[in-house]
Amino acid sequence: MTARVLAEQAVASVFPDAMARLAAGLAVVTTRDAEAPRGLLVSSLCSYSVAPPSVLLTIDRGSRSYRPLTEGAEFGVHLLADTQAAVADRFARRGADKFAGLAWEWDDGVPRLRGVPVYLRCALAMVFAHGDHAVVIGEVAAARVGRGDPLVYFGRRYDWRLRGPA
Ligand SMILES: Cc1cc2nc3c(=O)[nH]c(=O)nc-3n(C[C@H](O)[C@H](O)[C@H](O)COP(=O)(O)O)c2cc1C
Repeated sequence: MTARVLAEQAVASVFPDAMARLAAGLAVVTTRDAEAPRGLLVSSLCSYSVAPPSVLLTIDRGSRSYRPLTEGAEFGVHLLADTQAAVADRFARRGADKFAGLAWEWDDGVPRLRGVPVYLRCALAMVFAHGDHAVVIGEVAAARVGRGDPLVYFGRRYDWRLRGPA
């Protein structure tokens, strides 16, 4: 085995632990295919640009949402509140109807979940693939901002409570 392969294996084994130390907000990204609404939980969301207002996220190329999200016109981004861990769990699971029993509605062809602190309807702007994921950039076409503290992912858990300054 070459030194380079050994180094790559060493990095691969610590990389998940390294990334577990990065605190991130959690969001549900929604789209649809010919049959039904689709969605998944992401921690990779970030603000991309102000002009035009855009977000960036990464999506696993094996995700059921991959094709509809990267080939569709628009998608929804829902920032979750710290009271919505059950919603996060539901959208982190594969298969099943993730929308059954949830309060949601169509918003110009995009599934919109009710009761989230922030909802953004995004027009797909760019996709580029690298490795097992693709970067998706969406331009924000509509935004709703409500209330709620964020659901934070850190150390493979999302039961943290973010406390404001004393
Ligand atoms: C905390 C957390 C963060 C995640 N972040 C992402 C992400 O940024 N991108 C992604 O593609 N999958 C992410 N996932 C995995 C998807 O939510 C999960 O694979 C989901 O079941 C995909 O569903 P689908 O195959 O029905 O689309 C994350 C999962 C968890 C638990």
